[in-house]
Amino acid sequence: MNRLECEMTKVLFVCLGNICRSPTAEGVFRKLLEDRKMTSQFDVDSAGTSDWHEGHSPDPRSQEEARRRGIDLGFIRSRPVRPEDFTRFDYIVAMDNANLDELEERCPDSLTHRLHLFTSFAPELGITGVPDPYYGGPKGFERVFDIIEASARGLLAHIERAKAVSSGADTPGGQ
Ligand code: 4NP
Repeated sequence: MNRLECEMTKVLFVCLGNICRSPTAEGVFRKLLEDRKMTSQFDVDSAGTSDWHEGHSPDPRSQEEARRRGIDLGFIRSRPVRPEDFTRFDYIVAMDNANLDELEERCPDSLTHRLHLFTSFAPELGITGVPDPYYGGPKGFERVFDIIEASARGLLAHIERAKAVSSGADTPGGQ
């Protein structure tokens, strides 16, 4: 790994199928970084706790809602979470508590601090998890998008605060 890669913050979004929620979270987070000219500071990916849809593009309903909001998900292909993800990614962000439980079972004990529930970064929503829209109608995909946008903004703010603390930039006399 070169120096630049070491300094990057690596974020993995995880849901069950990696065709609805986590690819949407990946696309929304990438767009947020693009808008803020921060893309080069991050490595962003998504994965599923299952391999049911491995190699598939995001669900057309997710892609449609993303397009409506100016976000392209067409380049994403579903893949399952792999053991090496736990060492590679700094933030492993689960869409719901079932995903989080599954990740906790597979994650080495020394790395569980890397696991997070996505909606915990948007406490103002008052919900615990992004609901699974797969078996519902288009309204569900709109709602999921709103939840994901709020959680992505909260996650980025959290990471920026954590980086400021670790660099000492938030303390008087820090740099
Ligand atoms: P996701 O949604 O976990 O947000 O990608 C689902 C996709 C597929 C299935 C369930 C949820 N499925 O049962 O195939």
